[in-house]
Amino acid sequence: MDEMLDEEKNQIFELYNSALKIILTKIEILDKDYKFVNGPNPIEHIKSRVKSIDSLVDKLKRKNIQMNMENIRENIEDVAGIRIICSFENDVYKIAELIKKQEDITFVRERDYIAFPKPNGYRSYHMIIKVPVYLIDRVELVKVEIQIRTDAMDFWASLEHKARYKYNGDVPKHLIKELKICAEEIHELDSRMYLISDIIHLINE
Ligand code: GTP
Ligand code: MG
Repeated sequence: MDEMLDEEKNQIFELYNSALKIILTKIEILDKDYKFVNGPNPIEHIKSRVKSIDSLVDKLKRKNIQMNMENIRENIEDVAGIRIICSFENDVYKIAELIKKQEDITFVRERDYIAFPKPNGYRSYHMIIKVPVYLIDRVELVKVEIQIRTDAMDFWASLEHKARYKYNGDVPKHLIKELKICAEEIHELDSRMYLISDIIHLINE
């Protein structure tokens, strides 16, 4: 299964890491530019990671796919991952649009779990994009997964993730129910907080 040379693994890591750096720079530029326009900065913080070789091997094994560069490129969309945490829900869409409309970025697909939450209550906006990475002898179009969500959604997602990890995916029914209730309450809270911020912002203008 794992037939790649260390050299090839390093090359994959570098390629996806380069794509991450490009997108992170783009987000940083947007974030800084908000200083010059009227209105609050929508980005709270950003996390990013390149998937470890171990979890890459695991994921390919689960999908019954042989480990090589072409298969990774075709089948794994989250080798490079960025999570952008915003204060409010409308900021999530603002950021998504600003990234989408950049000309060197190719939009691949989106999953809007905010408009359409998962049955467990998970909310987050996901999109897959491609960004050109210029190498010595070629240009690689590299996929990056971007997850954008509010602080509150992130809080919920980390707890739910911990629960799943702890119970090996088999979370007891009462906890699933409780998490679902929390997700709805957090959503309600997000909306009310946004309303307050909107009022404050209007007063400032
Ligand atoms: P993989 O699950 O990565 O194979 O991708 P997918 O094609 O199912 O994409 P999706 O957009 O549904 O999920 C991508 C990522 O979002 C996951 O790897 C998680 O990081 C996160 N995610 C999706 N669903 C949940 C959820 O129910 N709870 C939590 N905590 N995170 C989730
Ligand atoms: Mg999934």
